[in-house]
Amino acid sequence: MHIFFHEGSTMQDRFISTIGEGQRDPLLATLRESHQYNVVIHSVDGRELIDSKGKKLLDFASCNYIGFDQDQEALLAEGVKAAREFGIHTSRARLMGYHTLFSNLEEKLAHFMGGEEALLFPNTTLASIGIIPALMRHGDLIILDKAAHATMYQASQVARDKGALLKSYENEDFDSLKNILEEHRSAPRKMVCVDGVYSMTGDYANLPKLLPIIRKHNALLYIDDAHGFGFIGENPTPQMPYGFRGNGVINHYGCQKDDPILYVAGTAKGLAAASAFALVTPKMKEFLMAYAKPLDYTHPSTPFALGILNAALDLLPKVGEERRLKVFQMTHTLVEGLRQMGFYVMTKTLFPIISVWVGETDRLLEASRKLYNKGIFLTSCPYPTMPRGKEALRLTITSSNKPEHIDALLDAFQSIALDWRSIGAPFHPMDLEGS
Ligand SMILES: Cc1ncc(COP(=O)(O)O)c(C=O)c1O
Repeated sequence: MHIFFHEGSTMQDRFISTIGEGQRDPLLATLRESHQYNVVIHSVDGRELIDSKGKKLLDFASCNYIGFDQDQEALLAEGVKAAREFGIHTSRARLMGYHTLFSNLEEKLAHFMGGEEALLFPNTTLASIGIIPALMRHGDLIILDKAAHATMYQASQVARDKGALLKSYENEDFDSLKNILEEHRSAPRKMVCVDGVYSMTGDYANLPKLLPIIRKHNALLYIDDAHGFGFIGENPTPQMPYGFRGNGVINHYGCQKDDPILYVAGTAKGLAAASAFALVTPKMKEFLMAYAKPLDYTHPSTPFALGILNAALDLLPKVGEERRLKVFQMTHTLVEGLRQMGFYVMTKTLFPIISVWVGETDRLLEASRKLYNKGIFLTSCPYPTMPRGKEALRLTITSSNKPEHIDALLDAFQSIALDWRSIGAPFHPMDLEGS
């Protein structure tokens, strides 16, 4: 037994070591040096953490924007009830059969979103991996926004294996999108894939510009709203630019049922429930149930997770508005503070994803380490998580953060600003022009 284990692990390591340096991207080595990687969290008190080295950290790396991950009192009981009633696990793949928990929740989600039907997936990643290759086949055209999430790219690569053509365009370069659609107008099916809320900038898919192009070219717009669902929603106002109800980017822009959209939402970030869903027509639902691989081969979300999702949908209208306002105020203070210090913050929307431009690896790593040492836990984004020249420090704000956390964060960034000034480092990509 011992010998078998030893040989097995040696072969595993040989597989890794025979991938030559030149074939690896530098992500792992870079992240290791950032200290903001593999942080093992020992204890949690809201957004105040202690890691396994005993370091106290303020958490600016959570995507549970309205703090439902910390709502044990309100949500846990329903998760446990679902597990008691239907079992700890689902026992089988979705296609074979499922509990009423699934059908009831799908009805509730479709109603909440103003759609016809919903179809649950275990998570957003598996929704994309299931849906995109199921729909896009030989001769079809997939166009990816280059800023869209990597999981849609992975899903599109599977579709490309089946003969679909894969193209991409720079975010917001709508002329280039039009040209690709025009050039491949004879493709039987055309799909354009975008994030609802971009995971690095917090900006929203420009649906007012995209939809007329999509309609004109008989295409389908695939929207991954992993960040937007549960947070942004309908009827935005200047006082509440995120909008209301948390019913996602499509309601934020007032989209209609007959718009050419396939909307997919993750529930893990907004509602702290390990699941996802697509808004579909009955015909699409029947098709995907059979042909989206994660539904016929993979276990679905557990009854516990779906119980949490059910309770979270009930809690959302009760606490959502107040918590979104809190997030807006803290995000506003943070962005203003960072901008006053001279930092370039990539946000048009004040969505609580705040990426501070650094623009190169060494300074990114130095800042990441310094911020960790000052007790700030954030997402360090070197190449290839960001394109070269756009390396950034990503901060996320949730309603479980406190105004004093923002003060501490700004203090920590003040010391980064001092460091950068002392060496004449650029604060903005434009500072590099002509240098
Ligand atoms: C835009 C986007 N899509 C998908 C995902 C993956 O979501 P999930 O954890 O539901 O698979 C993420 C995760 O951060 C994301 O930012």
